Amino acid sequence: MKIIITDQHGEQHEILDANEGETLMQIASARGIAGILADCGGACSCATCHVYIDPDWSDRAGPPNDVEEAMLDMVADVLQPTSRLSCQVRMTRELDGIVLRVAPN
Ligand code: FES
Repeated sequence: MKIIITDQHGEQHEILDANEGETLMQIASARGIAGILADCGGACSCATCHVYIDPDWSDRAGPPNDVEEAMLDMVADVLQPTSRLSCQVRMTRELDGIVLRVAPN
């Protein structure tokens, strides 16, 4: 499946071999996408995997749950309406082609 992700330096990457069930964080960090630090390893406790989902895709990605929402408060200064922690978004067929951008950290 496909992901189009713009890294922290503004460089766009097209990832064509994303697997269903992997999180966006796992997919991005396995490919060394700049700006996805993922310090907590995906435990939803660091917010260093913060991304902006393209508005056309944010409904399909869904809203953050309460725990993620609380963690997003840590990055309140750069929060946007489509902010998500990429370790909390799991790839599904519905997200094939998703477009996102790494948030500043
Ligand atoms: S990797 Fe730490 S919150 Fe996502």
